[in-house]
Amino acid sequence: MPIMWRDEMSVGNGRIDQDHRYLFCLINTIEFSLSSCGDKDILETALDQLDYYTKDHFEREEKLMLKISYPKYPDQRSAHELLISQLAEIREKIITIKDKPDMQDIIPDITELLRNWLLDHVLKDDMLMKPYFDKYSMDFI
Ligand SMILES: [Fe+2]
Repeated sequence: MPIMWRDEMSVGNGRIDQDHRYLFCLINTIEFSLSSCGDKDILETALDQLDYYTKDHFEREEKLMLKISYPKYPDQRSAHELLISQLAEIREKIITIKDKPDMQDIIPDITELLRNWLLDHVLKDDMLMKPYFDKYSMDFI
């Protein structure tokens, strides 16, 4: 089952919500590629794209935090660094297991790691920005 972005996950900024939707989409693509019905050839492309887009997204978020004078900016910067290193670890795990015969048994754990990685970022960290974004229009950039 793919994870779906829902309206309750909105942080009050359209551009950031759009980024989060795309990150959900990439994680779904990776999960599908890992599963027996997925295309293994696109797995590495999706992992590369997740890595690239995550960094791009964090940069965009940090710029917006400065624009709205978000008081937790320093904490969020550190959180982003940690998330990038966690993503690198998950990616390494996926690369290590992707050709193993028992890969199917490990997939649920890996996909849960990926989902929690993203959901923690969106629901725990970014949701704290919502009261600050609420003072601006949804298309503020
Ligand atoms: Fe985010």
